[in-house]
Amino acid sequence: MAEHLVVEGQTKAERYASLLPQIKALIEGESNLVANLANIAAALHEAFGFWWVGFYLVEGDELVLGPFQGPVACTRIGRGRGVCGTAWQKGQTVIVEDVEQFPGHIACSSASRSEIVVPMWKGNKVCGVLDIDSEKLATFDECDQEWLEKLCQMI
Ligand code: SME
Repeated sequence: MAEHLVVEGQTKAERYASLLPQIKALIEGESNLVANLANIAAALHEAFGFWWVGFYLVEGDELVLGPFQGPVACTRIGRGRGVCGTAWQKGQTVIVEDVEQFPGHIACSSASRSEIVVPMWKGNKVCGVLDIDSEKLATFDECDQEWLEKLCQMI
């Protein structure tokens, strides 16, 4: 297991570029979804120091909390609710620079200031989302979107 997932002094894109193959290697020998999502959340959390990294998985008409790293979070989110439910409903990545400006944002923690949510697909249906929260404003941009969408395609 890689103890040091990231070499210091890299740009964000370089970090993702070195992390993704490591994540691929980590998950390709394991078929259990929960085990893989747990390791992916841990790898992203360790490599970038994000405040909260985790997955919500579609169950009926709700998203249910899956493996994550960070403080305790709300367990169920309706379709179209909050940032996660919006990304699910739209089938698109949602980047929120300031959660206070996002109508309906679900505040699991008052420390969270910005957020990115990336849908995961099974065939043509969203089966879950990857949610990353930051305690700083405007942490996420198209670079995160590009690499995290690549990551979600690997799962
Ligand atoms: N803020 C999210 C809810 C999940 S927590 O941030 C972990 C949302 O609005 O969907």
